[in-house]
Amino acid sequence: MGEPFRILFVCLGNICRSPLAEGVFRQQVQEAGLSERFVIASAGTGGWHVGSPPDPRMCATASARGVEIGHQRGRHLAPGDLLHHELVLGMDRQNVANIRKLAPRDLPPSRIELFRSFDPEPGTMEVPDPYYGDDRGFEEVFEIVERTSGALLEHIRGLRGW
Ligand code: 4NP
Repeated sequence: MGEPFRILFVCLGNICRSPLAEGVFRQQVQEAGLSERFVIASAGTGGWHVGSPPDPRMCATASARGVEIGHQRGRHLAPGDLLHHELVLGMDRQNVANIRKLAPRDLPPSRIELFRSFDPEPGTMEVPDPYYGDDRGFEEVFEIVERTSGALLEHIRGLRGW
């Protein structure tokens, strides 16, 4: 079957946006019958929440839509992550800038992208940070992540002929 496609979702804390993207994408991959072909992970550019489960508000929003993310634990983005993933997706521009700072010079630039560059709906290109907001912010993040993740999966399937 060849090498799996290794994909990493990155935000600031790794307790809201990127754990959700990891969980939603994994579920969509599973529903497509492609679990064997992917290795899916997430990480934060900040290290405050290493070892912590995702934010309970993000867990609740995801669970209400049928996606369980409560088993995930926070990871801090490490330079080696850039070598071991085919695609590293930042949730906002600051994330992408911080990811690029860790990248070796010879890394192909296309390995690091904004997650929402795959969003089929025109918008800001950033997933807003819901951490200091209310529940509506978490709902909005879910909707953005769900549709962008679906389009991302179609993109990769097209690339690989899956
Ligand atoms: P995330 O949200 O980057 O989507 O996980 C945040 C979580 C925690 C913090 C900031 C953003 N924080 O400052 O602790």
